[in-house]
Parts: sequence; C-alpha cells; structure tokens
Amino acid sequence: MEQLVSLCKRRGFIFQGSEIYGGLAGTFDYGPLGVALKNNIKNLWWKQFVENRTDMYGFDAAILMNQKVWQASGHVGGFSDPLVECSNCKSRFREDQIDTSKCPSCGKEGTFGQARQFNMMFKTNVGAVENEDSVSYLRPETAQGMFVNFKNILDTFHPKLPFGMAQIGKAFRNEIAPRDFIFRVREFEQMEIEYFVDPRNEKTVNEIFDALFEEQMSFLKKIGLDSNKIHKIEVPAEDRAHYSKRSVDTEYDFPFGQKELLGLAYRTDYDLSAHMSSSGVDLTYFDEENKDRFVPHCIEPTFGLDRLILAVLSDAYKVDGEGEDARVFLAIPPAISPIKICVSPLVKNKDGLVLKARELFNDLKKSFGAVVWDDNGNIGKRYRRQDEIGTPFCVVVDFDTLGENPELLDTVTIRHRDTGEQERVAIKDLKKYIEDKIN
Ligand code: GAP
Repeated sequence: MEQLVSLCKRRGFIFQGSEIYGGLAGTFDYGPLGVALKNNIKNLWWKQFVENRTDMYGFDAAILMNQKVWQASGHVGGFSDPLVECSNCKSRFREDQIDTSKCPSCGKEGTFGQARQFNMMFKTNVGAVENEDSVSYLRPETAQGMFVNFKNILDTFHPKLPFGMAQIGKAFRNEIAPRDFIFRVREFEQMEIEYFVDPRNEKTVNEIFDALFEEQMSFLKKIGLDSNKIHKIEVPAEDRAHYSKRSVDTEYDFPFGQKELLGLAYRTDYDLSAHMSSSGVDLTYFDEENKDRFVPHCIEPTFGLDRLILAVLSDAYKVDGEGEDARVFLAIPPAISPIKICVSPLVKNKDGLVLKARELFNDLKKSFGAVVWDDNGNIGKRYRRQDEIGTPFCVVVDFDTLGENPELLDTVTIRHRDTGEQERVAIKDLKKYIEDKIN
C-alpha cells in the first residue's frame, strides 16, 4: 500500500485533500492521471449499463434534497454507526472496528462505556435562514435521487417493467474512522442502478437478481480485476441494510485484506412505498396487460468508484526484477489506462526525426486523445516513466523510419508495457493496430 500511495502522489494520480493546510481527514483529490482513470471507468460502466441496453434510463439528480427524502428513506433515523469514546484520552472509534477491552490510542484498559449511535449524514442548511425547516443533508447514497424521480420516468418515457435507472455521482458519509487510502473516505463516488421489477413472479425476480450479479462480474473483468481475488458473499439477515431482503456483497482482496468492493441488494418496495406514504404522491405502476396497479420492487447493483480505482491500481501494480534494476509498471487494461500512447523521437536533436515524430503525435492525438510526447533523457528512462503510469504503448520514431534502412521506411517501433517486447509496425497500420489492442 505504501508504495502504491507514494506512486499515486508522485505521478499525479491521487493527492491528500487540502494538502497544503495539513489535509482534511477522509478526503482525497484526483490529479490529471487519476481523473483520467476515473473517467475511463465511468465511461465503460455507462456504456455497459446504460448505452448498450434498452431498459436503462440515465439520471443525474441533485446532491441536496428536501430533508423529507431522508426522513422517509430511514436515513435520518437509522443511518448510523456505533461510536465509543475512551474516557481516558477521549479518542473515538467505531465499536465494531476495535477490541473495546483496551483503548488502541492510549492503551488503557476498560475505558469504553456503552456505544452510542452516530448518524453519518453531513447536515447543512439551505438558504439564508438557519432553522429546522432549512435543514438538508449531503446525500449518503445516490439511490434516493432516483427513487424520488421514479414517477418522472414513468410520465415521460412510459417504460414497461422491468426497467432501471442509473446514476453516477458523489456521496458523502461522515465516517467515524476513514482509513486505507481511498477505501473508506468521507466524500466518494457511487455508480448505482435501481432496477424495477414486477414482484408477483418470484422466479423472474430471482433470475433478474442473478443476471445483474453476472453483469457486475463481467464489468469487473473488463476493468482487469483478477477473478481469484473476487469473492461472492451472501450477506446474512442480521448484517443486511434495513431495506434489504437479500444482499450479495462482492469482496476483493485489497492489500490490507478482503473487504467489500460492491453490493447487490433486493430493496423490495421499501423505498417507493416509503416515499409514496410520506409524500402522498402515487408511485404505483399500471400494468396494461392485467389492468392493475402495484408498487414495483427494486433490485440495486451498487458500485463504489473509489474502491474500484483502488482495486484496479493495486491489481495492476507489478514489479519486474529486483534491486536497482527493478521495473515498476501498472498493468492497467489499455481501455482504461489514463494515457494510451507515448510518442518519442529516438533522439531529440535531429530535426528530421523530431518533425516526423511530431507529425505522428498530432495525428494519434486527434484519434486517441490521451497521447503524450516525451523526448527527455534516454529511451530506457522514458519507457520506465511510462511503465509506472500504465501507458500500454510507446511509439518511437528512429532513423529507419526516415529510410536509413529502406525496407523499414515509414515504420515505427512500438514497445509493449507488460512484456517490454518491441515490434515494427507500418505507420499506415498503426491506428488500427492500437485500436484493436485497446478494444
Ligand atoms: N445505495 C446503497 C448503498 O449505498 P452501501 O453498501 O452503503 O450501499 C455502496 O454503499 C458502495 O459504496 C459500497 O459497496 C462501497 O463500494 C461504496 N462505499 C460506501 N461507503 C464508502 C466510503 N466511506 N468510502 C468509499 N466508498 C464507499
């Protein structure tokens, strides 16, 4: 973890939030390479779960919502973790994360009393007046933004069941103990789907649940996670969220242990019914075939984007060789790697080479976007720099490209990150060659 965190900072993936002021616990800022990786994962997810399907409606709801949303959803009353405080040093912990017989901070024994429930929502006030009516919260999940818009989707798109709503966005939780880099933070991003089904056919509901689980697995495969590190956990009733009738968590072998990566929950009609009785607005669905109305049930696949990024980075982090010669590289799948191609002239003080390489760089940049130029230092050092940030292809223009060896005129060297192997490819075939590898 230490090496990964240091690489993330040194190479511009992820920084501590508010770093120059000593940081703000549980917050992180994504730098140019981090945001590129994040956007690539989001785009792949949106493509798979929204664009490539005909039953999914994309959404982007406001983060701030009427406080009644959170009262109805059960978050005001119940979205809390058990908090204990040491009577000696006043340190606070989440009860279920420590051995309460001895304080992990001061070491004194028997200093913890009864746990109290600590609500994890960030409270704020909307508008110029601060009173009970102006209270709002930063959303702790993106899900509710979709439940409260269920009727808007019915009224504008008239979808037939089953169908889903999908959203990517920020969520906020005032975690008692943020930890493990971007694993448990106070501000993070979720990619969530609320998939609505007809509850009257239990077999179909179960089949849809299983199919959504398989879709989650196929996404994890696309972003390159090692299937041996992925574990399916059927969550026992006593550990399920208050709204869930069945939950399957997907856990992953992070460097600090096997922990939750994403979830799948059968939320039944809990949310729609709660909002219907609280708002007084009819959130039933009219079944044209049977000419009857009912409240649909909901199955929710949820993905934590920051945890996915941590899993991708920790899976991709590889070291080749030992000691001073060790080569560190990030084996990120080309489809999501922040930079796709690095273009270099073999040496930087030969005009003909530089001109040809620049021409190629401009052309590739137009097609692939995430293309960089590097003519600093020797070619070996350039490769190492690109390896460390996961650039899958380094393209080098050399004297043979210019025709020193006439058989190799207008060809370049393409060097592969994971194997270090080099190939000679004709410039006219290069785009297609790289496109095929990325896809
Ligand atoms: N809408 C359901 C829901 O929010 P959750 O299990 O509480 O369910 C979903 O959260 C996902 O969000 C988790 O599987 C995890 O990936 C991510 N997540 C939750 N809390 C997080 C935190 N404090 N920091 C980073 N990611 C978090």
